[in-house]
Amino acid sequence: MKSFSTRMPRLGTENAFSVIGKAKKFEKEVLEPQGKKLIYLQIGEPGFDTPKNINDAAIKAIQENQTHYTPTAGIPALREAVAKDASKYSATPYEASDVVILPGGKPVMFYMLNALIDEGDEVIVPNPSYPIYGSVTQYLGGKMVPIQLKEENEFNFSADELKALITPKTKMIILNSPQNPTGGVYKKELIEEIAKIAIEHDLWVLSDEIYDRMVHEGEHVSITSVPGMQERTVVLNGCSKTYAMTGYRIGWAITKNKEMANYIEQLACNDVSCTNTMTQYAALEAVTGPQDQVDYMLSEYKKRRDLMVSLVNEVPGMHCHSPKGAFYLMVNVRELLDKLSITAAELCDRIMKEAHVLILPGTVFGLYGDDFVRFSYVSTEEHIKDGLARIKSFIESIY
Ligand SMILES: Cc1ncc(COP(=O)(O)O)c(C=O)c1O
Repeated sequence: MKSFSTRMPRLGTENAFSVIGKAKKFEKEVLEPQGKKLIYLQIGEPGFDTPKNINDAAIKAIQENQTHYTPTAGIPALREAVAKDASKYSATPYEASDVVILPGGKPVMFYMLNALIDEGDEVIVPNPSYPIYGSVTQYLGGKMVPIQLKEENEFNFSADELKALITPKTKMIILNSPQNPTGGVYKKELIEEIAKIAIEHDLWVLSDEIYDRMVHEGEHVSITSVPGMQERTVVLNGCSKTYAMTGYRIGWAITKNKEMANYIEQLACNDVSCTNTMTQYAALEAVTGPQDQVDYMLSEYKKRRDLMVSLVNEVPGMHCHSPKGAFYLMVNVRELLDKLSITAAELCDRIMKEAHVLILPGTVFGLYGDDFVRFSYVSTEEHIKDGLARIKSFIESIY
């Protein structure tokens, strides 16, 4: 066989998926024969069903034979609705032509990086963060330059730290607020400083705002609210988290840079032709229909966050602050790791095997995640209480 391309070994993955695969195998082979189950407190997706009005819109679209290709950039009504919705955060209103509908938020990363990155180009990537940013950067031959999100600074970084990482090869900064995995939200002053730096150094920005509605305190601030940023920024957003639609696969890129919008559309045309048609009609209902279900889910997440934060802080050797956004808790376990002389991955493995609860090591999200484990608080109150009780008694037994 002739060899695979030299790019392939540089492509990473989401290690969270392999941890889950291992856990499912352990549950089936070891726990189920004993009548036991794992409690999954690592889940990175909404803990609710998709609202009925949205599912009904998808069914209606099929019944009305909306089962053919759409334009690559999406159906005009959805592009218009997304533009209108995104304009609530931006310095000037977006138009439908600024929006490219895609099968999920993830393709926005893949296409934007493909449109920009040549061998040796540097991309500043928050760390810990969603692993795909770094994976795709490296796949394309770019260099991922991590910028540490610091716990003591509510998982923000500083303008000086950012400036120190910029070189003549820096092409782009990736932002994600509210953040996965830390739950951190960038402060408005930081966003304004980043914008100033981006303009001064002529940098592109990928602003991943997939958790924009999940700000539990304060308000979401987009870098596109700063004049001059809409032309150098691609906003990544979609329905996955807000409307509990992860399996529908729908998201979008929004940018006032016409060339970038055209390249993203062209990449999508080469790759997928268009986004699933009935999914686009479901998304149209999601964005333009009643928002009471979203409000309900958000208020539930906030209650679950408060419960989980208080229970985690009762576990010896674990502590965390109350995160302002998304649905994740980044829990500092450094004391525990030092005491037991193990890594975060080994701790999570022991918690899975001995307490029967699944959580993720912070290192799944980058090198600066090594003091942490990540919980998500999308699970039911009952699971949160039960899971944390198991973890507490296990840790107490070894501490
Ligand atoms: C920060 C972040 N961006 C993007 C995505 C991907 O979203 P989608 O499922 O719409 O592709 C996720 C999913 O977990 C995420 O956490």
